[in-house]
Amino acid sequence: MSHNIDPEQGMPSFINPSRNLNNEEKEAAYKQSIAEINAVLDGENNMIVKMATINCILKSHIPYAYWIGFYCLNDERLTVGPYQGTLGCIHIEIGKGVCGAVAADKQTKIVKDVHQLVEGEEHITCDPNSHSEIVVPVFDKENKLIAVFDVDSSVKESFDNTDQVYLEQIMKDQFEVDHLERQFKG
Ligand code: SME
Repeated sequence: MSHNIDPEQGMPSFINPSRNLNNEEKEAAYKQSIAEINAVLDGENNMIVKMATINCILKSHIPYAYWIGFYCLNDERLTVGPYQGTLGCIHIEIGKGVCGAVAADKQTKIVKDVHQLVEGEEHITCDPNSHSEIVVPVFDKENKLIAVFDVDSSVKESFDNTDQVYLEQIMKDQFEVDHLERQFKG
């Protein structure tokens, strides 16, 4: 699919290039995001509603969230779920790329420079503007993997332990809950 590319930025007109935050700014951005996510999703059980809302709120506060979204476990592979950004891959096999590795290991991965990874095996390029990323596993209350959450930045070294701590907390608070209404088979 082709996008309407802004010649000044070399990226689609609806996306801005990423800007990294220092730790103080990062902490403030996550605290604000979490307050909004908890308020807006209070009493909500629907998995897709939660995913779409988390994407929107985080993308509003995190200026290095160039691509943000969920890949859901479906028929023993990952299938793209709610996201904001340029066109994502539709299916990812377990073990392939960063998302597939996180689905296999069930551990968060931070990649400071995705172009150092072996393309097609260790990393799958959906958009060549992505330079760093974090992928967090998403579990249900029975500790079963239901998705992975992927945030990509268009600059290097955007993600660190602060992102990991807050993003893991958001996933736990929103998905490791009673009465989650699921839309994918698992
Ligand atoms: N980079 C990911 C693929 C998903 S997209 O970047 C949206 C990966 O290597 O798993």
